[in-house]
Amino acid sequence: MHKPVHTNLLRWYEQYGRHNLPWRHSRDSYTIWISEIMLQQTQVTTVLERFYTPFLQQFPTLRDLAAATEEEVLKQWEGLGYYTRARNVYKTAQLVEHALPQSIHELIQLPGIGKSTAHAIAAFAYRTPVPILDANVKRILYRFFGKKKASERELWALAYRLFDDEHPFEYNQAMMDLGSLVCRSKEALCVHCPFEMQCHAAQQGAPLELPEKKAVKSVPIRYKDIVVFTCKNRYALKQRSGRFLHGLWGFSEYEQNRDNAEGQMQQLGSIVQKYSHFHLYADVYISYEPVEGHEYLTLEEINKLPLSKADIKIVKMLT
Ligand code: ADE
Repeated sequence: MHKPVHTNLLRWYEQYGRHNLPWRHSRDSYTIWISEIMLQQTQVTTVLERFYTPFLQQFPTLRDLAAATEEEVLKQWEGLGYYTRARNVYKTAQLVEHALPQSIHELIQLPGIGKSTAHAIAAFAYRTPVPILDANVKRILYRFFGKKKASERELWALAYRLFDDEHPFEYNQAMMDLGSLVCRSKEALCVHCPFEMQCHAAQQGAPLELPEKKAVKSVPIRYKDIVVFTCKNRYALKQRSGRFLHGLWGFSEYEQNRDNAEGQMQQLGSIVQKYSHFHLYADVYISYEPVEGHEYLTLEEINKLPLSKADIKIVKMLT
């Protein structure tokens, strides 16, 4: 049902919403899906500046994506991180033949599409009257309803309670903008908020009270030696087959302080790369010894492969 709070939100959205985001001008489920997957773990500005448009230029349709190789998709995703997303996008393209399904039930079955993303695709591509529930929306709901704690299930119920089912597209986009621009996690700008009069937290003057965040885990540091084996202007790489960075190519990595390892090698430099679950501190060496189980490639060939950010830093050292 459309209520006065919704009128205020829509007016606010018309005036202050981020209307220039390209995925908001699309009704194509494919491009909306790609944008939603990219935005799951990456900020709007990064997606916008470097990834969304080039990806769609390379793979303009679902068919183009399905016809590519996984390696080409990973290459296009290079630098965006959380590569499981790219592999899932590719798997989904293989699974659905012509278009993404319309129903939330079917969307959720696809790799990489969770409940909120399924709702977002349904609301944005098909104008299905359903709310979404990302971190921004959750924060607004906690404050609006004055909750200190709520389960996923309760949050979905609240999302439906506040929802404007007559304007599902604008409502959902507006909620994301409100969360990002006004109802911010560290500083809520209640005087600019269209919900100020109805929001429990704003009325209590306590917008900062949010459910206690889980203590930020300090991530471990992993110290490694990375060895670039080289011969005749070719460098040895192999494709990663473990879970981490699966499918990307990389130089050889070793635990540090192996016996007599560094002795015969020349150090090229050091790199630091921060991942969500550990920080990598690596010394990088060059070795002229032969190595097995790798492919010896030229820099030109290497630059065509999908590489992790750490490996890209090493390629720069070689260039
Ligand atoms: N994050 C996820 N979906 C988004 C959208 N459509 N606009 C802005 N940020 C988003």
